[in-house]
Amino acid sequence: MTSTQSRPAIAATGLRKSFGDHVVLDGLDLNVARGTVFSLLGANGAGKTTTVKILSTLLGADAGDAQVAGHDVAREPDAVRAAIGVTGQFSAVDKLLTGEENLRLMADLHHLARGEGRRRAARLLEQFDLTEAARKPASTYSGGMLRRLDLAMTLVGSPQVIFLDEPTTGLDPRSRRAMWQIVRDLVAGGVTIFLTTQYLDEADELADRIAVLDRGRVVAEGTAEELKRRIPGGHVRLRFADPQCLDAAVAVLDESSRDNDALALRVPSDGSLRSLKTLIGRLDDRAIEVEELSVRTPDLDDVFLALTGNPTREKVTTR
Ligand SMILES: Nc1ncnc2c1ncn2[C@@H]1O[C@H](COP(=O)(O)OP(=O)(O)OP(=O)(O)O)[C@@H](O)[C@H]1O
Ligand SMILES: [Mg+2]
Repeated sequence: MTSTQSRPAIAATGLRKSFGDHVVLDGLDLNVARGTVFSLLGANGAGKTTTVKILSTLLGADAGDAQVAGHDVAREPDAVRAAIGVTGQFSAVDKLLTGEENLRLMADLHHLARGEGRRRAARLLEQFDLTEAARKPASTYSGGMLRRLDLAMTLVGSPQVIFLDEPTTGLDPRSRRAMWQIVRDLVAGGVTIFLTTQYLDEADELADRIAVLDRGRVVAEGTAEELKRRIPGGHVRLRFADPQCLDAAVAVLDESSRDNDALALRVPSDGSLRSLKTLIGRLDDRAIEVEELSVRTPDLDDVFLALTGNPTREKVTTR
């Protein structure tokens, strides 16, 4: 019993997958503890959906091993399927059916008795705020309603492990937050969530652990805080009233990089009160006037860009 409890929800070693000569996964290792949210981050085409497909038995790996909910994905696909739910990047909702009919259909697929299927559908419609729309065809639903229905359909089978492939892409801020709350409630109920996302704030908000996928490998893994600590990027930006003040400050703060046009200096800093006091003290000692001071600590965007070498958001004019 204890060994089952402590067994990870998802464990993968050395997963490889190529399409033709295009290597998508190049030795992927993953370990996801039960009852946690694990987020896989990666740029478009990094291999996130491919990973989800392999772990959910929809696609075979070329090499490597994976166990999900204690079962081997290659040798015991049926046992894996019975234990998981997948909400794909592309919805499983039948738009010609109503929300209620979609849910009842899932209940039938899971061989639930009629009454039980009806009860579960009603409960999910209520839980996902779809009761009012239950009898309308899904073709009339908004994007957010479709996402909720899609996830509700996944939950009909009471899965232990749920794969959410970009669950909030295209949703407005309120619908995203509603989806986040649903994820938190599921985890509180003991479910394990494997989440892929392009929104780093989403991973920051929800994930216990995050892995960054780049060129077919996990290039970094840890909590959001651990990942942020791994990269430089925290700095203080100082702006001055005139070039003389800027020159004087440069002479005092040797590690800084200057931006002559903006009359600004960027000084590496962890943003702590102590380091700010020291910095201000050094400027005060020489009576250097600062117009404006702002502190920036690294966020997951910085981590992602630093680790995947994508320079698109680098718009800082200093140096
Ligand atoms: N069936 C397939 N045949 C050929 N190439 C494929 C196939 N499926 C995926 N690929 C390729 O594998 C790479 C990874 O695709 P995948 O869908 O896993 O990326 P992703 O990280 O989910 O991207 P996105 O963020 O755009 O959803 C892409 O270059 C894609 O073109
Ligand atoms: Mg994808």
